[in-house]
Amino acid sequence: MSFGRDTDKRGNKLFHAVQENNVKPVYQDMEYTIPTLEDMQCEAQLSALGVWEPLSFHISGWDEDVKKLEDWWVPFQPKKGILNDRESVLVIGPEGCKPSDPCGLAQLAKIYGFKPNEDTMSFATEAKDAILCLSEVFKYFDFGRSFVIRLNSGGHYPPHRDHILLTRPTFRLIAFLGDSTGQLRWEVEDKLVHVEPNHVYYVDTRKTHRLWSAGSNSDMVVFNVVKNWTNVMKLMTMLKYQG
Ligand SMILES: [Fe+2]
Repeated sequence: MSFGRDTDKRGNKLFHAVQENNVKPVYQDMEYTIPTLEDMQCEAQLSALGVWEPLSFHISGWDEDVKKLEDWWVPFQPKKGILNDRESVLVIGPEGCKPSDPCGLAQLAKIYGFKPNEDTMSFATEAKDAILCLSEVFKYFDFGRSFVIRLNSGGHYPPHRDHILLTRPTFRLIAFLGDSTGQLRWEVEDKLVHVEPNHVYYVDTRKTHRLWSAGSNSDMVVFNVVKNWTNVMKLMTMLKYQG
């Protein structure tokens, strides 16, 4: 079987991600590590939320939208010697990007020689207009890199953090599309979290998290929202559970 070695399911050559230890750590740039007043205000407010909070967006129609993505799926961030059945479609990314472009940060690091900041990748692909069920979300926030991720059987993310520094330029939302109840598992800080289908969640991905799927087509959209006070207040407005 060639899948997981050098080619994908369609026979296209895999674009392997750079190994993580080849990526220059951001904290080598000490200036970048010092939070601004707005960083501190945003992070304190986000910390008040908890690690896993549903929002009140209504998502309906993924079954129709997903048909439009058919030709755009590519393996997400394949790594040599590791079988991991993940596929992606880029929705918002670097200038001039296309839906089939690589969208993993380690893949982008291989292209650019460094990991680009999430908030610099704010250009929509055709996929954004195709995903009508998320149009309310797309209009609501300012976004950096965002993509559809599909986990098939055995597809997983091992334990990791997306950010650790208070200077992170973006925070994460995850939209759960269609119904993968029973086959998709998410854990944050080693605790299983509850997923309502067709909901968007704020996830504190500064905390260690992991996920995996026991079946095909566990579809999500990973959003990076530009971290500023306006977007943090918009997030508070959209919490499903208010005071
Ligand atoms: Fe993550």
